[in-house]
Amino acid sequence: MKILVSGGCGFIGSNFVKQTLAEHPGDEIVNLDLLTYAGNPDNLAEVETDFADRYRLVRGDVCAMQTVLPLMGEAEVVVHFAAESHVDRSIKDAATFVRTNVLGTQVMLEAARQSWGDDASRRFVYVSTDEVYGALPLDDPRSFAEDWPLDPRSPYSASKAGADLLAQAFYHTHGLPVIVTRSCNNYGPNQFPEKLIPLMILNAVSGRELPIYGDGLYVRDWIHVEDVCRATDFVLRQGETGQVYNLGTGAQRANLDVIHQLIALVADRLGRDASEIGRLIRHVADRPGHDRRYAIDNSKLLSLGFEPRWNFEEGLRHTVDWYLDNPVWCERATSASYQEYYRRMYENR
Ligand code: DAU
Repeated sequence: MKILVSGGCGFIGSNFVKQTLAEHPGDEIVNLDLLTYAGNPDNLAEVETDFADRYRLVRGDVCAMQTVLPLMGEAEVVVHFAAESHVDRSIKDAATFVRTNVLGTQVMLEAARQSWGDDASRRFVYVSTDEVYGALPLDDPRSFAEDWPLDPRSPYSASKAGADLLAQAFYHTHGLPVIVTRSCNNYGPNQFPEKLIPLMILNAVSGRELPIYGDGLYVRDWIHVEDVCRATDFVLRQGETGQVYNLGTGAQRANLDVIHQLIALVADRLGRDASEIGRLIRHVADRPGHDRRYAIDNSKLLSLGFEPRWNFEEGLRHTVDWYLDNPVWCERATSASYQEYYRRMYENR
């Protein structure tokens, strides 16, 4: 298959590119990535050499039709990862999110419609998020199934919901072979350290404070990035067009519990005292509009035959090991612009 991946230098995109090239020797990938702060070509350094004949990076903007259209013409399938993804940034600057997430998706969909005509063998996978469902209270026994009403509550999730609906509209209106995935929180190698897990690992290692928003009892549902990439590949090849698939493994954890697990893992690996690292914990001002809990129902995906490989505890240990074993990647990811971001977000919080 000739696959166009957008945002393939980002966290999930780069893991998907590596996995797909390794597991499908017949596939070719063109990666369209603007290389913004979260798009890191280092994530794919080995791919550039190991799979030079089957992989090509195009630096460009998903909002630019003149860039997207020729690439779409060559593609049989698209996996559209490119997005602004960090909720905290969307609170400070919603415009960037609307542009990349909504307009960028519209351009990608329109380019596919123009290039593919009514060829039903094509696939357009839109990578959405479980955040489009809104939030659940802590004591609510229910979880989000795919037909749960959309109730996005941050500028980030609203922009993703807009694009999610647009993708479905292209299926209904134009017959574009669209599949939507809605994943829960991802973790694993190569995640930019603005997100909870890598931020806490790097701060614990360097002795920086561990900033917990509010009471820390917010619950997220976690999936290892390798499982999310396998699930994305699975629905790309076996999913039905016009369908939405939740991607999750059923690992709901409170933030404070995750942080204590990370502290124990870092302490263990570095031979340090966990209670000393624990003293770095600081409860800081909460995220405005903070969603209390996400919990997704993954039964539709499992009923197709998908089996997750990672359990959360093993995955977390593997993730801590990856950050400790890749100091050069970490140093580059936390260079001057990251320090400036960190100061803006956390100083006097
Ligand atoms: O649910 C899927 C979503 O998961 C994706 O669509 C988003 O792109 C992704 O960023 C993630 O959103 P979250 O807001 O849940 O992830 P984040 O890592 O920013 O925060 C996870 C939880 O940790 C959340 O309750 C906020 C809290 N948190 C986060 C940071 C960065 C803290 O307490 N302290 C922090 O410094």
